[in-house]
Amino acid sequence: MRREYLIGFALIVAGLWPLHAAAQKYAAIFNFGDSLADAGNLVVDGIPEYLATARLPYGMTYFGYPTGRVSDGRLVVDFIAQELGLPLLPPSKAHNASFHRGANFAITGGTSLDTSFFEARGMRHTGAVELVVPGVLPIGCFPVYLSIFLKQQPEMYGPRSGCIKDLNTLSWVHNALLQRKIAELRKKHPGVRIMYADYYTAVTQFVLHADNWGFLQQTPRTCCGAPGVGVYNFNLTSKCGEPGAYACDDPSNHWNWDGVHLTEAAYGHIAKGWLYGPFADPPILEA
Ligand SMILES: *[C@@H]1O[C@H](CO)[C@@H](O)[C@H](O)[C@H]1NC(C)=O
Ligand SMILES: *[C@@H]1O[C@H](CO)[C@@H](O)[C@H](O)[C@H]1NC(C)=O
Repeated sequence: MRREYLIGFALIVAGLWPLHAAAQKYAAIFNFGDSLADAGNLVVDGIPEYLATARLPYGMTYFGYPTGRVSDGRLVVDFIAQELGLPLLPPSKAHNASFHRGANFAITGGTSLDTSFFEARGMRHTGAVELVVPGVLPIGCFPVYLSIFLKQQPEMYGPRSGCIKDLNTLSWVHNALLQRKIAELRKKHPGVRIMYADYYTAVTQFVLHADNWGFLQQTPRTCCGAPGVGVYNFNLTSKCGEPGAYACDDPSNHWNWDGVHLTEAAYGHIAKGWLYGPFADPPILEA
């Protein structure tokens, strides 16, 4: 029996087709999102001159060359595909690619479309029976915002995390409302399995308990960047991939890659937590 399985990430939605629902074996993944999940859509027709994320050191850890992925290596969706025994999803804009095992529609800077877009195209019901819907990251821990909002008042920051409290509250409230909506949708569509995927707790853990994850215990800091304001190794005029910026020696001991996006090491931990717990409710591969 073939059923459709949809996975959603904060700005990523992926769909899986299980071969045998009971065994949770999947024939394909369909994924939607932004730079957290772009596997090369922005670069299928060549690398735009302006696009720093399509230059080394992007891709340095896993692929050895830039693929358009905004990280040093694989993304969450790549780890999930590999763990499920599927090939890495080809970008949906790839010419002549095979989409039999899925496709990755994510694109850097992608936004979301409202219901009317889909209704206008007669897509009121996409047949999906399983969805993963991710929340958002704790943005107050990200060097880009820590640099932009650099202020001296110590009470703005979490005493242990060094993150901006108000920004994290914003993310937290977003995720709480999202989970409430998911609960409503579960009631309305009892035949659909909808999973909440948690980026927030994962990154908070990386910051507060860095040792447990193999990361350096430090104020949030990019692996790839250049000195700027504050201690975050983030400089808006010299970002990763641009002149003057460099990657750290060992990206695997940093969770933050370029100030906005995560390292392959961090994405790997998150993928595992979504597949097996504890970072998903329920985990994708629920025991
Ligand atoms: C597209 O893929 C098919 C099958 O792999 C191959 O025979 C064909 O040459 C490819 N075409 C182009 C333009 O790459
Ligand atoms: C940020 O980078 C620019 C360009 O490389 C450099 O001129 C500037 O001094 C840097 N800012 C700081 C605070 O180091």
